[in-house]
Amino acid sequence: MSKQYLQQNALLSWYAASKRDLPWRHTKDPWSILLSEILLQQTQVSRGIGYWHRLTARFPTPQSMAAAEVDEVLHLWQGAGYYSRARRLHALAQTVCLPSSEGGYDGQMPTTAEELRTLPGVGPYTAAAVASIAFGEPVACVDGNIRRVMARQTVQTNPSLKQVEAWAASNLYVEDAGDWNQAMMELGATTCTPRQPKCEVCSVASSCKGREEAHRYPEPKKIKRKRLDLTCALNIDSLGRPHLVQREMKGILAGMWGPPMGEQLDVEGLEYIGEVKHVLSHRDLFVKVWRGSCDVGTEPSSVAISSLDAKILSLVNE
Ligand code: ADE
Repeated sequence: MSKQYLQQNALLSWYAASKRDLPWRHTKDPWSILLSEILLQQTQVSRGIGYWHRLTARFPTPQSMAAAEVDEVLHLWQGAGYYSRARRLHALAQTVCLPSSEGGYDGQMPTTAEELRTLPGVGPYTAAAVASIAFGEPVACVDGNIRRVMARQTVQTNPSLKQVEAWAASNLYVEDAGDWNQAMMELGATTCTPRQPKCEVCSVASSCKGREEAHRYPEPKKIKRKRLDLTCALNIDSLGRPHLVQREMKGILAGMWGPPMGEQLDVEGLEYIGEVKHVLSHRDLFVKVWRGSCDVGTEPSSVAISSLDAKILSLVNE
């Protein structure tokens, strides 16, 4: 079978003419680009823009974040979800700022994908994105968008990570890997979309073997969604402030504040006030909320609250 290569010029010209004007596309600063890539891992572009502006304004350098409390980073991350990203980002800033004799980078962001991968929270995707966009390193990115483009171009229903990596590497435009990687992701995000792809305007349709039946490629992944039933004790003081605790440093709500919650929580003597449903990537949470009273609560705006906890707190105002 002959190898089918993408028409690099067609894709790059399309990207140059049609790319979305995203704020991180106006900088080569590796720290600002890293922030955008970590945000975009699990937050939509449209929502990520505001977070990126607030984060880069408050933390323009790794030094500024390393010197801050992790709670301040969590507070800025409030509402973006997947809070362990914020915690790892803070740890990353601190690692970068360590002296090289202690395993750090003397306050300078590492410049290669290999070194970037050693940082907390940085996997192969983020390392390749930052190294190629900020430093022009010829490394190919692989994400869900690129996997979908590959699956359709080569008519594979379930390409493995290795196959996608090999395809992305063999098609890489090495003279400008940063723009190339972004052009591929942009194609997947705006043209070669999961549903109703715009094949009639696609710049690389002529090499696409899956064009006639794009919806078949790739096959949807069967994600097993787990249901998690939780109980929450919402104790309110005489001023209407809830009793809040900081959640464990691991897991979905890592380090965020909220009323006590658990799979087996004692709510004897409390009044049942309703159920909150919250959807995460692999889990559906169902939280039964019970109300009681406490002596002194916490002002919610003074701490980092997740969207799930904001929903729970709003139950008392209904
Ligand atoms: N998704 C994540 N990072 C991206 C980028 N730099 N360009 C387009 N889509 C992206």
